[in-house]
This record gives sequence, C-alpha cells and structure tokens, in this order.
Amino acid sequence: MKVSFGTAAIPAQGALALGVGKGGKLGPLGASLDKKIKGALKRAVNASERFEGDKGQTLEVLAPAGTRLSRIVLVGLGNLDEFDARAAENLGGSIAKRISATGDTKAAIALDAPKANKIEEADAAARIAFGARLGSYRFDRYRTTEKADKKPSLKQLTVLTANTAATQKKFVALDRLADSVMLARDLVTEPPNVVFPRSLADRASELASLGVKVEVLGRAKLEKLGMGSLLGVAQGSSQEPFVVVMQWNGAANGAAPIAFIGKGVTFDSGGLSLKTAAGMEEMKFDMAGSAAVIGALRALAARKAKVNAVGVVGLVENMPSANAQRPGDVVTSMSGQTIEVLNTDAEGRLVLADVLWYAKERFKPKAMINLATLTGAIIVALGHNQAGLFSNNDELAANLTSAGDSEGEKLWRMPMGDDYDKDIDSEIADMKNIGGKGGGSIIGAQFLKRFVGETPWAHLDIAGMAWVYKDNPTVPKGATGFGVRLLNRLVADKFEDK
Ligand code: BES
Ligand code: MN
Ligand code: ZN
Repeated sequence: MKVSFGTAAIPAQGALALGVGKGGKLGPLGASLDKKIKGALKRAVNASERFEGDKGQTLEVLAPAGTRLSRIVLVGLGNLDEFDARAAENLGGSIAKRISATGDTKAAIALDAPKANKIEEADAAARIAFGARLGSYRFDRYRTTEKADKKPSLKQLTVLTANTAATQKKFVALDRLADSVMLARDLVTEPPNVVFPRSLADRASELASLGVKVEVLGRAKLEKLGMGSLLGVAQGSSQEPFVVVMQWNGAANGAAPIAFIGKGVTFDSGGLSLKTAAGMEEMKFDMAGSAAVIGALRALAARKAKVNAVGVVGLVENMPSANAQRPGDVVTSMSGQTIEVLNTDAEGRLVLADVLWYAKERFKPKAMINLATLTGAIIVALGHNQAGLFSNNDELAANLTSAGDSEGEKLWRMPMGDDYDKDIDSEIADMKNIGGKGGGSIIGAQFLKRFVGETPWAHLDIAGMAWVYKDNPTVPKGATGFGVRLLNRLVADKFEDK
C-alpha cells in the first residue's frame, strides 16, 4: 500500500472515509459532499439508530448517485477534545484495514474536523498515514497460492489535508519509524529455520548502510571474553552463537551512550528441560527483544538522532542434544559469578547475564535497558496489554513509562527487592537460575540485576507483548515490533541533544 497526501477536496473515485464529530455532525468536506449527493449522508446519519459519531463507530454509504465514489465511510471521532496522535493512528489503521477488505484499490481519508485541540491538522494527517502503514502490515513471504480476493485490496491511500507540504514533512520521520517497526516484525515472524543466530547477525549487519557501526562476535571471541553463561545455553545447538554490537554515534564523540540489550534466542525448545509440544513453535519469537533493539537502532540511525546509542544482542538457539547443558551444570559468567543451571529453559537470563555485563564493562553506559521475552509468568500477571518493567532507578522507570504511554506501548512497573533476591542463592554456586514457587518474573529480574552493577538499568519483560493474538488498529495480530517505538521515543524525549 502506498500512502500519499492530497489537498482537502472530494476525490473523483475510489472509497472516501470522513471523520465525523460527536453527535454525527459532518465536517466541511462532508457537508459539501452531502450537498453534491443531495443529502444522502445526512439521511444516512438520521436513519441510523446507532451512529452518533462516537469514537470508532462507522457508517457506510455505497455508490452514492452524483459521484463516482465506490463508498463513503463516515467514521466517528468521538470527543474532539480527546482526539490525539494515538487516536489519529488508530483511525488510519482501522480505515485502511476496513477498505482493504472491500476490494477497493484506491481510497482517500480526511479527518475533516478542524477543531481537534490536542493535535494540529498536519500532525493528525501524518499520524493517520503512519497508523495506516502500521495497521496494514502483513507478512506474506511464504504464501504462494493465496487467491487475489483474499489479499488486502487497498493499493493507494491518500490522506487529505489542508497543508500537504507540512504534512509530508512531518510524515517522513514517521514513515521511517514504521519501516523500523516492520523490520522488527519481519524478523520475529520469520521461521526459526530462516532466522537463526548467524542469519540474524547478518540482518543486523545490514544497519551498516545507515551508518551504524556493527561488530559480530563469534564463538571464539565469546570464549575469549569468558561468556560461559551464554555459551552454556548455545552448546546444545549446532548453530554458532553470536553477540552483535551495533553503535550509532550521533552525538558528541566520547559521550557515554545509552545501551539497549536484547534477548535473541532464535528458538527456545527449553533445552534438556524440554518444553511440551503444544505451542513450542511459538518460541521462534524468543528473539523479539533483539529484534526490538535492532529496530530501535535502525530508527535512530534513519532519523540521524543526536545521541550515542549502542545495541547489544545475544543470539543463541536453545536446543537439547548430546552436547546440551544439563540441569545441575555450573557455569562461570563473564562477570566471574558462577551459576548453577537448574532449569535449562530459564535460558534467557543466562544469555543476558553475559551480554549485560559486557555492555556495562565496555561502554560504561548512562543507562542500560534490556528487552526480553523472559518469562511466561509475566503473561499470567499482565496479559497481552502491558509489558513488565523492572528497574533499579525510579527516574529511568518513570521516563520509560511515559515514553510507552506516548507511543501506545504500555509498561507496568513490577516490584523488586532483597527478599526476592535471596531466592536465587545456590547451595553450590553464587546463584541458581530459578527460584522457588511464585513470582517467576521478579525472580528473572533479580537474576539480571546481579549483572548490571550500579548502572541505571531497566528490564522489560515483553513475553506477552512480542506476539499478540488479537488485531489492534495499528498492530495486526502476530509479531508486534513492541519496543521499537518506545525506545525511539525515550531517546527523543530524554537522551537526545537538542
Ligand atoms: N522464552 C521463555 C518465556 C516465554 C514463555 C516467552 C511463553 C513467551 C511465552 C523463557 O525462556 C522460559 O522458558 N521461561 C521459563 C522460566 C522458568 C523455567 C523459570 C518460563 O517462563 O516457564
Ligand atoms: Mn526458555
Ligand atoms: Zn526463552
């Protein structure tokens, strides 16, 4: 689907979607169109018992006489005082999706409500376009026999706006951000025989074309660094593990960077603590944390953000084999701390332990944020609506929460503390990789905390957010790309030179 901008005039053909304020009052474009089609719109609004212009309500008029439009979709905007950027995105996403199911290939959309006071007209138009792109995401690389009438029909969406030049300018940045979110979605959706540690490292390396400095550390280097914890997870797989370091230096040379760390388990079978068959295929998305980090670095580079940022992802496959790590093994992490591995399925924390330590030691970052599909328990706690946020720093936690609110990637802060920490003391080593019963997500976070020192740090447990099972206007079901928008926003609001 192509998105473009056009002046606020009634198009000659195709579908047309128009915003309608609360009470069902037509905007200026709607009113002039209504005249042209002899009051058909007002009659439709009056005839409907339900349509009141409430947020999300729609009313469709088909092939009205007096125009060559295929359909007019009136879309309720709700209370205009509350209409904001997210509402505009949702509008774009839901309309694009709706028209794509009709067979129409061309559509235009206008907010047609000049008085929304939380957002300027040009911003709203750009956000509508952004939402349409995000909501139209589809991964069909491996569909070869799908019938044309099952495919989304919309090819060309024109957002009508009073100022096309200003809108176009605002859209450039959002358009690139959408590309970065979709990169993350693609990486997560790809099957685990296509995205495995080496191929994912290759995909990350492509960021070099945007000016990101990329280093790929293979097994020999990881051994030299002493990453026994990460290597223990990888040893059951025939795939070589990699750590990829991505640096975007957009600020003053030498300024301490912000660091993003990603869990990149390209497939999590559980290892010898094997998962059950039902749903195991989902564990291809266990690299979503690393996909978010790759996407975020892409987003920063694409808009030449004035920040020094580093992304470090630990890429491994967790498999059972004759060479796999055993429950009971003790490994030595890069930090020197020893870990008794009691459950090989609690592998994400073992990977992150070394990657967090490495990032901290090498880059002395201002702040360190890791993203990981770490625990099923966070899904029990928060479902698929918010990610878990764990942090040793209230300010960082608050900044992340507000970035998430702004971007529709919500975070809920979870507790941490010494009482929880005690649960991972081991009888034989410095710590064990699981606790007792209960609080599984907190235990995971306490484990990670032992590898971050004094660095302001936050852990986002995105197990419930990396993949969703329900369509949202801007997030179709499947891989979400969760974290890309959030991190980009955090940088823009709090870490970027003005
Ligand atoms: N990748 C899983 C967590 C997960 C589960 C993500 C379901 C998304 C959906 C992680 O490696 C894992 O297996 N965690 C275990 C930890 C347990 C063994 C302490 C879990 O959540 O069961
Ligand atoms: Mn696991
Ligand atoms: Zn895992």
